[in-house]
Amino acid sequence: MNKSEEFWDGASKNYDKTEERFEYIHHKSRESTKRFLKDGDLVLDYGCGTGTAACQFSERVKEIHAIDISAKMIEIAKEKAAVAKVENVSFEQSDIFDSKYSNEAYDVILAFNMLHTVPDPQGVVQRINKLLKPEGLFISVTPCLRQKMSFVVNLQIQLVRVLCKLGVIPISIRRITKSDVDSLLGVGGFQALESEVIYKNASSYFVVAKKNQKA
Ligand SMILES: C[S@@+](CC[C@H](N)C(=O)[O-])C[C@H]1O[C@@H](n2cnc3c(N)ncnc32)[C@H](O)[C@@H]1O
Repeated sequence: MNKSEEFWDGASKNYDKTEERFEYIHHKSRESTKRFLKDGDLVLDYGCGTGTAACQFSERVKEIHAIDISAKMIEIAKEKAAVAKVENVSFEQSDIFDSKYSNEAYDVILAFNMLHTVPDPQGVVQRINKLLKPEGLFISVTPCLRQKMSFVVNLQIQLVRVLCKLGVIPISIRRITKSDVDSLLGVGGFQALESEVIYKNASSYFVVAKKNQKA
């Protein structure tokens, strides 16, 4: 098991507390996303965590493949889907670079609250471009840790940065801005259709982008 997987496994037990803490941001980004989902869509939810968003989107689309590197996140997500009787979402411990995923397979790919945690965001965005059908949609929401945030959240971020430097948190958490996300999407062959900075104590950047060329 690699360190990132181990870290997210450890975070899984209390992960759903972030649903309450960032309720406003989750609610706004999910409601905005719903407007872009269609009945026949095949969706990939990359870094699905405990599956809350995938379960909420399930009735809007044909099928969702929800993947995460953490086996424990996936375990919780499966239980959640079973309780809610959600049948068109498959949860799997997997990475987006797995060769089993085919080019131009998905109508929509979601990456919620995870682009700032991956080691190679540019590579991820290019991979997403390849897996999307022509004119497919990439919908992301990304905490922008270099933008406006409340004093308390800022203190927490500073603490997390120290813990990352000391190696206690073994993943890199990038302090990115809205324009970093815009550049990633531009280089990745996407055109933004809609974007919004959602703020409540912390800034998150929501973007719906259309694949307009190969990355
Ligand atoms: C901050 S959580 C976000 C979870 C969920 N998308 C949400 O919005 O609540 C980040 C998630 O990304 C997953 N993750 C991190 N790196 C990943 C990778 N390379 N491949 C798949 N999942 C990854 C973590 O295990 C974790 O569940």
